[in-house]
Amino acid sequence: MWHCSFFSLPLCCLFLLFISTHCYLSSPPVVDLINSTCKKCSDESADFNYNFCVASLQVIPVTHVTNLQGIGIIAMELALENATHTISTIEKLLNSEEFDPFAMDSLRDCLELYADAIAMLVDAFGAFLSKHFNTANVLMRTVMDATSTCDEEFTEKKGELAPLAKENYNLYQLSDISWCIIKQVSSVPSDLPNVSS
Ligand SMILES: *[C@@H]1O[C@H](CO)[C@@H](O)[C@H](O)[C@H]1NC(C)=O
Ligand SMILES: *[C@@H]1O[C@H](CO)[C@@H](O)[C@H](O)[C@H]1NC(C)=O
Repeated sequence: MWHCSFFSLPLCCLFLLFISTHCYLSSPPVVDLINSTCKKCSDESADFNYNFCVASLQVIPVTHVTNLQGIGIIAMELALENATHTISTIEKLLNSEEFDPFAMDSLRDCLELYADAIAMLVDAFGAFLSKHFNTANVLMRTVMDATSTCDEEFTEKKGELAPLAKENYNLYQLSDISWCIIKQVSSVPSDLPNVSS
């Protein structure tokens, strides 16, 4: 039977130490960048949902998470994909004939808000790539405002459903993530590696 004798004990320990150290060191630093980015953002804003941030950015293929700029691009793409999907959701709701005239008006207003939001997200993307970070951030803030405006459309009248609450929340958070990452990227003067840790 295999066992650790007195003499081989140090070797056994060394072996176990090697295994655990090796396992620890080989965990990808990639997750750290996503987690630390989300943590930094949630520390700065009470609205920011850390779990939503980590869960959303988990979709990024490991090979793509090399730096903050890369995560920023993905976050903006996720926001754009989400807004585009919501347009078709609103169109389906408009065709469902389930809503009263007040809600139909609200849905039409939201459709316009989302169409504008998509145009702004595309502009923000271009601004980010050309390093016009302030422009990109103003646009992201405007997208966040648009989701709040759409939400308020429905809550103006008591008892009215909020059929787009989840969609508005998703786009708000995804835009907030993008906004925060753009802010972090713009505060780094160049592409120098981050040596803060
Ligand atoms: C990153 O966050 C996720 C979710 O909160 C957690 O499961 C994971 O252990 C974290 N990873 C690191 C390296 O902190
Ligand atoms: C929108 O974003 C949320 C949160 O990241 C995600 O769960 C959902 O799948 C996204 N929907 C689309 C259509 O991209």
